[in-house]
Amino acid sequence: MKKDDFFQKMEEFKIALTFDDVRLKSGYSEIMPDQVDLQSKFSKNVHLKIPIVSAAMDTVTEHKMGIAMALLGGLGVIHKNMSPREQASKVAKVKYYLNGLIDKPICVNQKQTITEILEMREKKEYSFSTFPVINDKNQLVGILSQNDFEFCRDNSAQAKEIMSKKVVIASEGTRLEKAYEIMAKNKKKTLPLVNKNKEVVGMYVFKDVQRIMMNNPAEYNTDDNGQLIAAAAIGVNDFERLELLIQEKVNVVVIDTAHADTKLVIENLKEIKKNYNIDVVVGNVSEPESAERLAKAGADGIKVGQGPGSICTTRIIAGIGSPQVSAIYRCSQVADKYGIPVCADGGLRYSGDIPIAIGAGAFSVMMGGMLSGTKEAPGDIIFRDGRQWKSYRGMGSIGALKEHKGSRERYNQLPLSKKELIAEGVEGLKLYKGRLNEVIFQYVNGLKRGMGYVGCSNIEELRQKADFIRISGSGKTESHPHDVLITREPPNYSIDG
Ligand code: IMP
Repeated sequence: MKKDDFFQKMEEFKIALTFDDVRLKSGYSEIMPDQVDLQSKFSKNVHLKIPIVSAAMDTVTEHKMGIAMALLGGLGVIHKNMSPREQASKVAKVKYYLNGLIDKPICVNQKQTITEILEMREKKEYSFSTFPVINDKNQLVGILSQNDFEFCRDNSAQAKEIMSKKVVIASEGTRLEKAYEIMAKNKKKTLPLVNKNKEVVGMYVFKDVQRIMMNNPAEYNTDDNGQLIAAAAIGVNDFERLELLIQEKVNVVVIDTAHADTKLVIENLKEIKKNYNIDVVVGNVSEPESAERLAKAGADGIKVGQGPGSICTTRIIAGIGSPQVSAIYRCSQVADKYGIPVCADGGLRYSGDIPIAIGAGAFSVMMGGMLSGTKEAPGDIIFRDGRQWKSYRGMGSIGALKEHKGSRERYNQLPLSKKELIAEGVEGLKLYKGRLNEVIFQYVNGLKRGMGYVGCSNIEELRQKADFIRISGSGKTESHPHDVLITREPPNYSIDG
């Protein structure tokens, strides 16, 4: 590959580069930006429709960001500065947002009276009125729907007396598209899924399925059940959290540490891979030998980035780390051998940094600062100096370390008292950017334009074809607007990044 020569030459002189040091060479192209395919993956089995992932930070990703990112084709990693239960409930909010498959439908027993069922419905504040009816062996025997309740004259009747016994069912594992077909053909508003013992293991509701089918689901990042893809951060040996997340059907967990190339993380990774059926992305690392150890221990994805983050002081406080573009290239070289995708985490400032990260070898980019000022990020808008802002802070900032065990764990400071905390991040403000979809629109189109210039129709082609050139300080000055007083900033460019 063309870029190998470039990076190997740099390595010969022990030079490591980052985004502002390089640009991609443009080349012959038959590709129009709107023809490119941005599909990629975050881990071995978790796909992305756009290669952008929001960071597991308490000022970036909770359920609102997770939902919005997945609706736009990306992915949000829900942070872990909260109790396992709270985090799992946020994952559930993402998973059930589209309600494609209800995997634990509320059933009623055939002997319950209509009064009892209506009371339960009111007490639990259920907004739906379709209930599969089961016998004492938990087997499906009928279904109660809105009509049955409306036309029932005697509410002391048992469910079995008024339920509809002719139920169209489908087998466990039926996919959304097939369910839509069955319901449309049979004119049924619900479709219970049953296992071999006739127990109800799921249910589709026509109006939800139809909404998913009609609402251009091609853009949504969904799983085989039509649910949005969700990701969550976990700590080391964080098994209670892991199990609650798996119960809520999280698609991928991220072992989230500042330094993943440690005995503890590697042993923990092996244990999770041995005992649980879940994709595990591990990070962060910045050296190829570290990536190799994680790959050998069973990682399904590797997160690269030690010190590039916009709120990060690790390189200054601890003196370690590698400029990000070289780190991405060197780790990807190893990860590719094992068929494991690399996610380039941190340090991106403009949309043009996305094709650079991918060109260097990443399958996706993780953003904190570039998504933090959006409406969907946690936190309120702050008014200051006549402008609107939102808080953005490092997970290793004093505030985050003081407030949350999750942060102290990420920075390996659990045994320290709160007075002795060593920060590796800062706390700050980002200009309020409005809704996420407008921001992502700009990033995605910046990436597409980059791919058009290089002449690549998909992400893999960009990874293979990208060729780099090193730019000087004056080259960088020339790249930005210069010798002009900017009177109007476009939505995709600001001096502040
Ligand atoms: P950004 O996109 O450049 O703002 O970087 C975000 C990334 O920085 C996150 O995904 C983390 O990997 C990393 N990070 C978050 N908090 C801290 C911190 O306090 N110190 C160092 N790195 C951090």
